[in-house]
Amino acid sequence: MKGIIVAIDGYSSCGKSTLAGDLAKTIKYKHIDSGAMYRAVTLYCLNKGLFIGNRLDEATLREDILQIRIDFIYNETGQSDTYLNGRNVEKEIRSMAVTNNVSPVARIDFVRAALVGQQQAMGKAKGIVMDGRDIGTIVFPDAELKIFVTARIEIRARRRHAELAAKGETVSLEEVIKNLENRDLIDSTRKDGPLRQAADAIVLDNSDMTIEEQNRWLLNIFRDANHKRNT
Ligand code: CDP
Repeated sequence: MKGIIVAIDGYSSCGKSTLAGDLAKTIKYKHIDSGAMYRAVTLYCLNKGLFIGNRLDEATLREDILQIRIDFIYNETGQSDTYLNGRNVEKEIRSMAVTNNVSPVARIDFVRAALVGQQQAMGKAKGIVMDGRDIGTIVFPDAELKIFVTARIEIRARRRHAELAAKGETVSLEEVIKNLENRDLIDSTRKDGPLRQAADAIVLDNSDMTIEEQNRWLLNIFRDANHKRNT
């Protein structure tokens, strides 16, 4: 039986990718972390020296954008790694340097057009869980199941801070909060593909939930959605 499209959107650092990845593994779907694609383009800009002070050389990026290849390849632990033009950049795209610069890159119309096109192509065969900001609204407005994830800012910041600390990045909690607030603001107010809840999305506030609890919640919702479709 043909699979469905599960679209998971929400604020920065509220655990969308973990939620999406765990569901995909359980139901044997493909998982695409669309944020990783915006992060990969940002890494490309940093490596190519396209940031000059606070300014981004958009003209060069516009010329290059169709040549930037992003692939997802499953590693031996069953997680998918992000590749930029054939190189595994999974670790680099999670650095604070990329995190601090990604929202201005994700705001550019031709960047969004290129990545949204690739995301839609990836979903053609269905059987996919994709997480991001505009998946249920712009990328797959007809997705059979849409989830909008949120959590209190201090909880999101503490989770991201612990994640960075575990990777050996020393960043203060205040800096993480500032970055999250700034990205949420840029993401929600941009013209193209702003972060907003689709009218038919189911909201999950996971502030007081464990990973197991949120996984169980989503699996039940997924089964319900599948059941309704088949009756
Ligand atoms: O991991 P976290 O939730 O903090 O961020 P992410 O999902 O890796 O996304 C990084 C950034 O990419 C976001 O802050 C957005 O600016 C951008 N993004 C977007 O514009 N549209 C998407 N579909 C996914 C991410």
